[in-house]
Amino acid sequence: SKNAVRVLVTGAAGQIGYALVPMVARGAMLGPDQPVILHMLDIEPAAEALNGVKMELIDAAFPLLKDVIATTDVVEACTGVDIAVMVGGFPRKEGMERKDVMSKNVSIYKAQASALEKHANTDCKVLVVANPANTNALILKEFAPSIPEKNITCLTRLDHNRALGQISERLDIQVSDVKNVIIWGNHSSTQYPDVSHATVTSSDGQNPARELIADDQWLRTEFIKTVQQRGAAIIKARKLSSALSAASSACDHIRDWVLGTPKGTWVSMGVYSDGSYGIPSGLIYSFPVTCEKGEWSIVQGLKIDEFSRTKMDATANELIEEKSLAYSCLN
Ligand code: NAI
Repeated sequence: SKNAVRVLVTGAAGQIGYALVPMVARGAMLGPDQPVILHMLDIEPAAEALNGVKMELIDAAFPLLKDVIATTDVVEACTGVDIAVMVGGFPRKEGMERKDVMSKNVSIYKAQASALEKHANTDCKVLVVANPANTNALILKEFAPSIPEKNITCLTRLDHNRALGQISERLDIQVSDVKNVIIWGNHSSTQYPDVSHATVTSSDGQNPARELIADDQWLRTEFIKTVQQRGAAIIKARKLSSALSAASSACDHIRDWVLGTPKGTWVSMGVYSDGSYGIPSGLIYSFPVTCEKGEWSIVQGLKIDEFSRTKMDATANELIEEKSLAYSCLN
């Protein structure tokens, strides 16, 4: 039988952590025949709650779950891990300046970068979920120079899945019949959900989603806004932020990265820009990617119209600004 894969989840005592760890233990992330060992990290004030999560994991008797480590020690948490899902972070609280939140997260991600670099397996794949996700991932990359940059990503799959969901609702079709939407840029309200290349499968083959929707005005306004502000809408409804959808999308991200994307299908991932589509290199930016043999590559050659160009640049500019704010926190 297969060797167990070690999966680190930071912030594991939090909301997303609580939704995510059972999904990992059931095989939703790495497949139904892949044993896993969970490494759960949180901070001291959450230590007791974290231990409660460990008790529940034991009680659930997951056949694939070979061991559980619950710890507040970063080194113990990172040692030997193959996959690292970084959910822990400092949330923005009422009255806090953006710079203060950034500063807290920059120091967390700088420290965790070093621990991963020293103690994780070589070729460990890293997914940053905690906000500001793109910039946290960038800090992690900069302070873990020996981890290949292609191994450090951030989560925009939730936004991608939200876009698929909105199209399927609008056309009253199954979500599994929609594919190849794109989230460009930052996991923030400047992200650009793009339907220009999306397709819908039906009994008469594959057709452009844009033609079937036949309402560019809706696609350029309400659709974009709904996806951009979905996180806020969930908070308003639940009085808590998205957790099950974030956890599920994190599993989708890692599963497709490790096991590959289906032929003809791409997904959105925040990855280190190589300058594709004129996006400045040196940013973690969400692109359409395909994955094969454990590696992602940016989908090339898509035609970008003027409307898309403006939106793609605006979200890149926000990331440039976030990057300089992050660097100003380092000094
Ligand atoms: P939460 O507040 O319920 O949980 C966060 C956990 O992280 C807490 O248990 C906290 O103790 C822990 N933590 C704080 N500092 C830590 C550190 N230095 N090391 C390890 N653990 C630490 O928050 P929730 O709802 O689980 O969200 C987690 C993060 O994910 C937030 O930053 C949120 O904004 C972000 N998020 C990102 C999404 C995306 O699509 N990229 C979607 C939804 C949320």
